[in-house]
Amino acid sequence: MQFADFWYIVALSNQLQPNKVLPRTVLGEWLAIFRGEDGQPVALRDRCLHRNSRLSSGKICNGALQCPYHGWVYDGVGNVIAVPAEGNDFKPSPQRRAKCYATKEQDGYVYVRLADTPSVDFEPFSMPHYGQTGWETVRVINRFANNVTNCAENFIDIPHTAFVHPGVFRTSRQQKLEMTVERWNGSVLVEYRNENSNLGWYSRFLNLQSAEIKHSDRFYMPNITSVEYKMARNRHLFITSQSIPETDNSTLVYTDVTYNYGIWNKLARPFVRWTAQHIIRQDVEILGIQGEAIAKYGTQFYNTPADTIHIFVESIMAAISRGEDPRLLPNQSVKVTFWV
Ligand code: FES
Ligand SMILES: [Fe+2]
Repeated sequence: MQFADFWYIVALSNQLQPNKVLPRTVLGEWLAIFRGEDGQPVALRDRCLHRNSRLSSGKICNGALQCPYHGWVYDGVGNVIAVPAEGNDFKPSPQRRAKCYATKEQDGYVYVRLADTPSVDFEPFSMPHYGQTGWETVRVINRFANNVTNCAENFIDIPHTAFVHPGVFRTSRQQKLEMTVERWNGSVLVEYRNENSNLGWYSRFLNLQSAEIKHSDRFYMPNITSVEYKMARNRHLFITSQSIPETDNSTLVYTDVTYNYGIWNKLARPFVRWTAQHIIRQDVEILGIQGEAIAKYGTQFYNTPADTIHIFVESIMAAISRGEDPRLLPNQSVKVTFWV
């Protein structure tokens, strides 16, 4: 198994308008993304076969992509279908074909897979409750100057919240929490206990009765995290993030906040968006700082029991880096006590 076997988001469906070509980077590969004649997303290597101009700077005519330099035209599978300098002598040739990648569209996202023959035929991750009656989704996109592993770990890391998100999200009051962390089938599943009031002012809306919060976090290989809070009927929230590896120190993160607040669903939208973006901006900053120190000193970490989640996530990422299938790692389940 390798990272190229998985599907990565390259655009929101509504960002990819007909007649538009988007430049993207996934796992260091440059891509030009557009809609072909049939409206389906197309992903070509962002490099013209002729003299290496970037196709993403070109333009779309009738679902074909024209290079901005000498006007070669590529169809939706990468075939060169016109070369202006050859005039009527132009003949199509199977050799003149740009590298083309598989695409899919699901839950309002456009996905690309880089492996031509993946070792496992995965499907894109299904976003929880997306588009379902009673649920609203707010989507935000942010770029982090760090790698996927550190981003994903941050999104399911509780101890940082009191320091990076003081007030808004939770305040440090040295509350004792318990969690069960399980590594299973290429995923890390975390269940928290004893949580009731450490969500800061948000809890006044979400958790009027200060009941125990049902809070679970998930990591799904190789780049997805999902945080779930359930307080009561109509107070149910998922924060799902897909972290797209652009390069070793750049990650583009698509975050869906999908919630069911009953009659408040529509009214809450601007508030949910503002809160999500506010919290994520704080994470962008701290992860940028961490990224700088990692670039200089590497990733030797000093873990505490509260970092068990990270150790499991890293074991899964390391397995894929070695070309192994992390689903074959032994199942493990650990109970951990920590304080926030
Ligand atoms: S470089 Fe693209 S047509 Fe010449
Ligand atoms: Fe955070």
